Amino acid sequence: MTPSGSTSVGSISNLFMRSSGRALAAPSILAADFGDMARCCEQAIRAGADLLHVDIMDGHFVDNLTMGPDMVKALRRALPASFLDVHLMVTSPELFVEPFATAGADHLTFHVEIAEPAPLRALADRVRALGKTAGIAINPPTPVEKLWPVADAFELVLVMSVNPGRGGQPFIAETLVKTRAVRERFGPPMRVEMDGGIGPANAGAVRDAGCDVLVAGSSFFGQPSEKWAEIAASLRG
Ligand code: DX5
Ligand code: ZN
Repeated sequence: MTPSGSTSVGSISNLFMRSSGRALAAPSILAADFGDMARCCEQAIRAGADLLHVDIMDGHFVDNLTMGPDMVKALRRALPASFLDVHLMVTSPELFVEPFATAGADHLTFHVEIAEPAPLRALADRVRALGKTAGIAINPPTPVEKLWPVADAFELVLVMSVNPGRGGQPFIAETLVKTRAVRERFGPPMRVEMDGGIGPANAGAVRDAGCDVLVAGSSFFGQPSEKWAEIAASLRG
């Protein structure tokens, strides 16, 4: 514990803190079969997925509803050792930090669009006090400069490569400029994640821009499970 009572980054050890020097393949469970979720996720991990990306939408920050802490709890029960990366596309994430942490999330990402730098930094502290890592996400229309007053407080920057709200949208190539700018500013151990429209066809360009956590929904779970090992390998490069 630091003098302020919060957990220091150094005392947290999770997948996002242990830089292996290689990119991570992160299937988004939004594209998985909701009627067979635990089995799908177990199979994805067996196929070589490094972690599971969990998209939370509140019908307010984006016009869609997805899932909540109970899904994370169920996944944690089914997969005690898998890394759960929770992406909060919600207007009031401060309401959900403890519920998701208690449910078993390993990492929580907030959007830079929802608050001023001071409350965002306070959210990162709250997450670390619970022994988890924190990320800050940025939407395609938001200028990259909006990240600079806050990004150093986080372990991960998530550059959205589609406008959030649903899976299966085309990759917005212009967002690679933003990824490059983030990577130029922050070397490892900062993780740089991209999310939306990513698959084997553009994974190389995404990694070349400096991204080391590649989220893939429809290009992973939308394919037959026999192909998942090959897809995970090509996301990692
Ligand atoms: C978009 C979500 C993404 C989405 C990715 O709002 O944050 O994680 O599930 O899906 P694909 O890979 O299908 O674009
Ligand atoms: Zn996401």
